[in-house]
Amino acid sequence: MSVELEHLRKMVEECRKCPLWRNRNKPVFGEGPPDAKIMLIGLGPGYNEDREGRPFVGAAGKFLNKLLESSGLKREEVYITNVVKCYLPENRATDEEVKACTPYLDKQIELIDPEYIIGLGNTAAEYLSKKYGFDFTSMERIHGVTFKISTISKEVKITVMYHPAAGLRNPPLRKIIEEDWGKLRGLLGSRII
Ligand code: URA
Ligand code: SF4
Repeated sequence: MSVELEHLRKMVEECRKCPLWRNRNKPVFGEGPPDAKIMLIGLGPGYNEDREGRPFVGAAGKFLNKLLESSGLKREEVYITNVVKCYLPENRATDEEVKACTPYLDKQIELIDPEYIIGLGNTAAEYLSKKYGFDFTSMERIHGVTFKISTISKEVKITVMYHPAAGLRNPPLRKIIEEDWGKLRGLLGSRII
């Protein structure tokens, strides 16, 4: 299984399917145990992630680490990746970029086969809602809500959250994010770990 993940990583490292490859320093494939039960999906690499080739290593990443801790999770036990694998200088991805890059994410989800997926921010939420067929009305309405989705092989739980970076820019939102992650504690603790 992880052999296939490594193969996929190499494909991402060599990928030129969308214009974002021109600006990248290091593609950010994702990290975590190949058999993680919980998978986190953000938007795409920022400046620090592009330098290091690892997801969520900047300010938003520090906040994310605290949120993980608050819900009783260790960063090392979750798999963390993004919708888009190459540096997003403006912090947003076009529909074309998402379309070009998400076959990699689809394959990652297939290989890791998590029981629980947490989408961080609107782009991840939209991707997940299309893939798993739930209604993404707005982040305001469905942040912190857990959907149980039956796929052919199993039930997957999906929660979408405001992006941690949004909480850093907006203190009232930060509180909401902290509350949402706090509520995950019981769910993750009793059902999965
Ligand atoms: N923001 C993201 O969405 N992903 C990262 O990896 C870092 C910041
Ligand atoms: Fe390829 Fe994705 Fe990078 Fe675009 S963002 S070049 S599709 S890996």
